[in-house]
This record gives sequence, structure tokens and C-alpha cells, in this order.
Amino acid sequence: MSKWRDEIEGHPLHPESLMMSYGYEPGWSEGAATSPIFQTSTFVFENAAAGKRAFELAYGLAEAEPGEAQGLIYSRLNNPDLEIAEDRLALWDHAEAAALFKSGMAAITTTLWSYLRPGDVLLASAPIYGGTHHFIEHVLPQFGMHVVRFGRDTSPEQVAKRIAATGGQLGLILLETPANPTNDLVDIAECAQVAEQFSAPDRKVTVAVDNTFLGPIFQSPLEHGADIALYSATKYIGGHSDLIAGAAVGSEEALQPIREMRTFMGTMASPWTGWLVLRSLKTLRIRMERQAENAGVVADFLRGHPKVKRVGWLGHIDETHADWELYRRQCSGPGAMVALELEGGELEAFRFLDSLRLVKLAVSLGAVESLAEHPATMTHSSATPEEKERFGLSDSLIRLSVGIEHPDDLVLDLEQALKAV
Ligand SMILES: Cc1ncc(COP(=O)(O)O)c(C=O)c1O
Repeated sequence: MSKWRDEIEGHPLHPESLMMSYGYEPGWSEGAATSPIFQTSTFVFENAAAGKRAFELAYGLAEAEPGEAQGLIYSRLNNPDLEIAEDRLALWDHAEAAALFKSGMAAITTTLWSYLRPGDVLLASAPIYGGTHHFIEHVLPQFGMHVVRFGRDTSPEQVAKRIAATGGQLGLILLETPANPTNDLVDIAECAQVAEQFSAPDRKVTVAVDNTFLGPIFQSPLEHGADIALYSATKYIGGHSDLIAGAAVGSEEALQPIREMRTFMGTMASPWTGWLVLRSLKTLRIRMERQAENAGVVADFLRGHPKVKRVGWLGHIDETHADWELYRRQCSGPGAMVALELEGGELEAFRFLDSLRLVKLAVSLGAVESLAEHPATMTHSSATPEEKERFGLSDSLIRLSVGIEHPDDLVLDLEQALKAV
């Protein structure tokens, strides 16, 4: 049972209700209704024995007694703002634990360093966020790791062949679904099966899912067999374009090596960032739901426009679409990311982007303000021309992140920008 109140008369409370109080005692800080920023690098031990015990637990030298909590030591290991935010983040994914990082890339790279060793194979979906793509393609191989990619058209047999060809052992499967920037879906349950197939009694293959685009409101990877959900909390979780953060969510067992690596790499979030995440979590559901509603209005408008070649929005997937069954099974809502391909190429895309007046021309996504960018030359510019072609990152592709502005104003802005093309 949780040490925090999470039910009333046996009825479990919903995460949106628990975002206001879970994990925090007003008595810790003069009765403050909402947690203050614990802006401290270190914590004073009650006595030397308490300090010794805190280190024993933190370094895994002893098991915690029933009901015994890890003592606060130093803000690279733990801090109340981080711990409260982690307790609350875990609730959305119905997970045991979470770890907060200084960025989404910090969450991803710390996870990869925790689970991969030289000679291991990382199996990763494609396309994937440009920063992740760069790291796995250009950094991991320098440390002796093999990277095998798979896309929507790769069969399980091809995947098995590519892994065998490396001569290495599969260590981790990393997927991003929906994929940035195309909204391609990857079947999490199928990947969990592949992981099982490649697991050995002494080594389980771990499945990590970058759930930034839909989660945690519209997709719960752990329920589909993933071990770890990863987030750029800079995006929907933060939601206001005012912080950079990341998160890993999963079982205590899955997070243990990640937390340990975070301690020694120092990739934890700061107390101030933890506090900002706490502020943001209170409005997560209403923001994401409104953003998805607005995205529907925008995507419907764009779909019928003569200067638009293709609109990729999950809400447009219907019974006739190849991904219908997967979308229904894996996602509980369409999110607010729109992949918009214009007729023409880079010139037309740039003219459109330069003409926007309400939607901001900026990378990042998931914020209350709508943002648009050009993946081929911005977020995904490190992909080679061949990779861009293969992953559908065309010159006329624009990634639109829909915010909470009035939907009529968004349509007005997009309409006038399309006129300028
Ligand atoms: C899907 C996805 N994952 C990870 C990241 C990296 O997150 P951060 O910028 O917080 O490091 C991004 C950033 O755009 C992203 O879109």
C-alpha cells in the first residue's frame, strides 16, 4: 500500500487528483500547501549513524527495513522536489518508480549506458528523434556497440538476420512510437515478444519506449509489455516551453541500474526543474486533451487544402488504414502532433514557415503554444540523404505541434501562411 493517501474509502483516486498533494507533507515546510523548492545541494544528517544508514541504502549495501525510507543525502542522489515529482510521474504510467533527468536526452543516454555493454546490439526503431538518432548511430559504435535499425516494413525475420550478422548479443530494444516526426506507429507488444525470444536465463532483453509524443495520457507502454517508458519531459509533461527535463518510468528493478548510472553521471534534474515539473503535472491531462482537440480541427482543415500533399495525424487513422488495429490497441487518443507535407519542396516549406504569425517557428513540441519546424534541416538534419529518403523526412515535411490557442485562430494563421506559398 502507498505511504501517501491514494484512495478514499477503498476507491482509488485518479492521477489528476493526486497531482495536487501526493508525495508531499505540508508539515515538511511550515504548512505550505504546495511544495517549496528545496534549493539545497546537501542535507544535514540527524547524527552520524543516520548518515551511515542513508549511504548503506543508497549504495545497495543493505536492504531497507519494512517502512524504512531512503534518507536524503545530497542533491545528485536525491532531493524532495525530484522525489515528489518522480512519485507523481510514476502514477500516470501505473508504475512503481520514476527517475527525473536534466533532459530527455539525459534520460535516454543514461538508460542506454545502464543496459548496454561493448559488443552488445541495440535494436532501435526508425525514424526516431534526431538527437537519439545521432547518439545511437555516431556515439554508441565508438564504444563497441552494434546498432540495428528497423522500420515499419522490416519483418521479424529480417530483424533476426541483422542481429545475427553483427555477431553480438541483443541487449536492449529502443522504440519511439509514435515516431518523431512522421507519427509512424511501432507495435510495442510485438517488440516485447522479440525481446523475450532473445532473452537468456542470465540476461533479459529490456524494452524501452520513448513515449514523448502521446504519453503518459494517451499511451502506456508498460501495459503493452515495455519495461521502461522514457520521456522528454521538456515536451508535454513540462508543457510551457520553460524547462528542459527527461524521465524514465518503470518497475523498481528496471530503474535500479538507471538510477545508479544517473548518480555517477550526474544527469539528474535540478530541484528547480523538479519543482517546475510538479507545477506542470497538475494541468497535464487538461492540456493534452485540449491540444488533441485543437489538433483535430487543424488536421481536418489541412487535409482538404489544395497546397497540402499529406497530413499525418493519428486521429485520421480509420478502419481502412493499415494501422487501425494497432492504433486502437495501443493508443487511447491521437495526441497533437501533425506531420504536414506540402506540395513542393524546401522552398515552399520555408515560405510557409516564414509566413506563420501565431504559430511560432521553433523546434520542440508539446507546449501550450503551437510550434512548427522543418525536420529535414532542423531536428533531423544529422540524418543522411539516404536515411531521410528511407524514413520519410522529405523537404516539404513540416512538424506541427498544436497548442491551446483558440482553434479558429490557428486555422486562420495556417490558412494565411498557405496563401503565401
Ligand atoms: C521524441 C523525443 N525524444 C527525446 C527528445 C530529447 O529531449 P530533450 O530535448 O528534452 O533532451 C526529443 C526532443 O525533441 C523528442 O522529440
